Amino acid sequence: MGKPTFYITTPIYYPSDNLHIGHAYTTVAADTVARFKRLTGHDVWFLTGSDEHGQKIERMARANNQEPQAYVDKIVAGFKELWSKLDVEYSDFIRTSEDRHKKVVSEIFARLYEQGDIYKATYEGLYCTPCEAFWTERQLVEGNCPDCNRGVELLQEESYFFRQSKYADRLLEYIDQHPGFIQPVSRRNEVVSFIKMGLEDLCVSRTTFDWGIKVPFDPKHVIYVWVDALTNYISALGYGTENDELFRRYWPADIHLVGKDIVRFHCIIWPILLMAAGIDLPKRVIGHGWLLMESGKMSKSKGNVIDPLVLIDKYGVDAIRYYLLRELPFGADGYYSEDNLVFRTNVDLANDLGNLLSRTTAMINKYFDGRIPQPGSATALDQELIDLALQTPAEVERLVDAFELSNALVAIGRLVARANKYIEETSPWTMAKDPDEHDQLATVMYNLAESYRMATVMLTAFMPGFPARVWAQLGISDRSDLHTWESLTWGRIPPGTEISRGQPLFPRIETEKK
Ligand code: ME8
Ligand code: MG
Repeated sequence: MGKPTFYITTPIYYPSDNLHIGHAYTTVAADTVARFKRLTGHDVWFLTGSDEHGQKIERMARANNQEPQAYVDKIVAGFKELWSKLDVEYSDFIRTSEDRHKKVVSEIFARLYEQGDIYKATYEGLYCTPCEAFWTERQLVEGNCPDCNRGVELLQEESYFFRQSKYADRLLEYIDQHPGFIQPVSRRNEVVSFIKMGLEDLCVSRTTFDWGIKVPFDPKHVIYVWVDALTNYISALGYGTENDELFRRYWPADIHLVGKDIVRFHCIIWPILLMAAGIDLPKRVIGHGWLLMESGKMSKSKGNVIDPLVLIDKYGVDAIRYYLLRELPFGADGYYSEDNLVFRTNVDLANDLGNLLSRTTAMINKYFDGRIPQPGSATALDQELIDLALQTPAEVERLVDAFELSNALVAIGRLVARANKYIEETSPWTMAKDPDEHDQLATVMYNLAESYRMATVMLTAFMPGFPARVWAQLGISDRSDLHTWESLTWGRIPPGTEISRGQPLFPRIETEKK
């Protein structure tokens, strides 16, 4: 039997400007889940990309005296550079300006038109260009877009419409029968009440600008960017083409990870498009919370963004990933603050995780000439540490599957804290003075090295950078069999292994440096 497949996606971001750490959060979280699934034996496909069409991008490009394609090319190169610096390992990067994408969007649009789910009519409506969304008078807040609070424009045009309304009941039934489809539950409830308020048919074409995919049978019209963008999740798999092996292998997606701002698009327009096209629906849409600043949601338009590249240069990629993943509890918002980032790095990484390795290797050097000793029989106290080390992997796996990444880090942190406390409780420096306690001292050293190995394996998906340095210090760099999820049973690190004490894993950040 082949490995079970697992397909996870991020939103495809607008290349209207560089990305900030809010976007980095989504992509790092998706990367962590993808890595974790690979580690635990899945055949993973991880897709990210860029959403390049639409009036907003066109206007940005013109304002910069550039053609839209040239403008986005440069910004998208920056996306890729950021993902590489953040140790994000995607399987594919889809750009909506690519032919392979445009073909699939055109084909689906034409098919829905032929089957009568898309029709032409005259439309008059209020449009928010930054959000690329239509609103009704009633939905506006003080005359402005309810999402971003900016002005809307009155658009009147001949347009194509998608018969969303026809599918509303089927969608409600689907959501009802698949309680895990929209997570967390709060997001699900919002979507359900939105649908129950009544779905209108969706305007799915524009004639006021050019930068987009043309309606294949009426090229005066450009296809609505959300219809264009959402289709990336299947166009990237070669859906409907001769080369649809990836689609057959990975669809339906296991997780569409998105911010709560775009849950509605993913849980209404997207499933209805799929239903109309006769394609299976994704298994889970997870809508995570926002990173907030004192001034509100971090966003390009508010000008309160934090550039992840600056933070990576200053603190290192593992610390940034750890902070983002640890800080946002599942589904909730979290405040970004550099002070907290420094605090987390110093307490969790430098003090707890980093010091444990440096204490362990220092003692093995001092008491056992730098070789991990043969353990003796376990006392109740030893057994407590061993039991926790053995229970933690299943707990972490359960939490990652529930997308509780922050709690998964807390669970691993508990093992690290337990090991640090074990040093205080066993007091190896006292044992070392008594030759009768030599075996007991050996057991303690072995247990510390082995629990450290296990904690490191579990942290690999979250912070992919630091394990190599741990393996070098523990003397098991060339033992890749000891870096795997399957190796998370007790007693695998071989006694006699020569360690090699090194630099602190996570140096404390001096607060002046900040
Ligand atoms: O919406 N906190 O692209 P976008 C957390 N192109 N996450 C944040 C965030 C914050 N402050 N700000 C942004 C689009 N994000 C469309 C998507 S998908 C078919 C098309 C993240 O560039 C979050 O994941 O505006 C959010 O959903 C996404 O960036 C929006 O990125
Ligand atoms: Mg946005």
